[in-house]
Amino acid sequence: MKFFVDTAEIDAIAELNDLGMVDGVTTNPSLIAKSGRDILEVTKEICALVDGPVSAEVVATDAETMLEEGKKLAGMAENIAVKVPLTWAGLKTCKALSDQGTMVNVTLCFSANQALLAAKAGATFISPFIGRLDDLNLDGLDLIADIRTIYDNYGFDTNILAASIRSANHMSECAKIGADVATAPPAVIKNMANHLLTDKGLAAFVADAEKAQIKIL
Ligand code: E4P
Repeated sequence: MKFFVDTAEIDAIAELNDLGMVDGVTTNPSLIAKSGRDILEVTKEICALVDGPVSAEVVATDAETMLEEGKKLAGMAENIAVKVPLTWAGLKTCKALSDQGTMVNVTLCFSANQALLAAKAGATFISPFIGRLDDLNLDGLDLIADIRTIYDNYGFDTNILAASIRSANHMSECAKIGADVATAPPAVIKNMANHLLTDKGLAAFVADAEKAQIKIL
């Protein structure tokens, strides 16, 4: 499973990228607003930093303007994936951009039917939102599994990009289901390294090493 990092914070992306943990980046208007940076400026910087796809989201809601925005975003770097919402206008934009050879990430997906439409429209990535479904007492992971089954049934090559990930558990569950990519905030990716028994075991090893005066250097 590829790891995308879900942020527009350059320092956080760079830190994970140095460890080989970044296969791509996803942003959205809320994350750009949170960074306090200009969308074009910060997106260009991210594209130069990472080799993989960088999702940059349109802000218009009609197909014509979305297409213009998408072309402008795609023209900034070779690794841009234009992010469009899963609306009828977004699907039209997806088809037009993918026909031109531009990577498209169709976002705000909350149902298997929506994912089926995005694949038909040539999406490179479909972004089902796990956490926001969980917030409504629904099971976001079930949606990932349903989309995996449907795409495998018919050999769609659209990548399942599990999004709205809130916990380390979401990451391992997505990997078990077979999501192609998971995009998560930096803190969630770092949290995947934590285990109570690792901390406890390490404390015991350190104490024993001190008691026995074990030295390597
Ligand atoms: C990624 O593409 C999405 O924009 C993001 O994962 C949404 O996450 P949220 O539901 O935590 O805002």
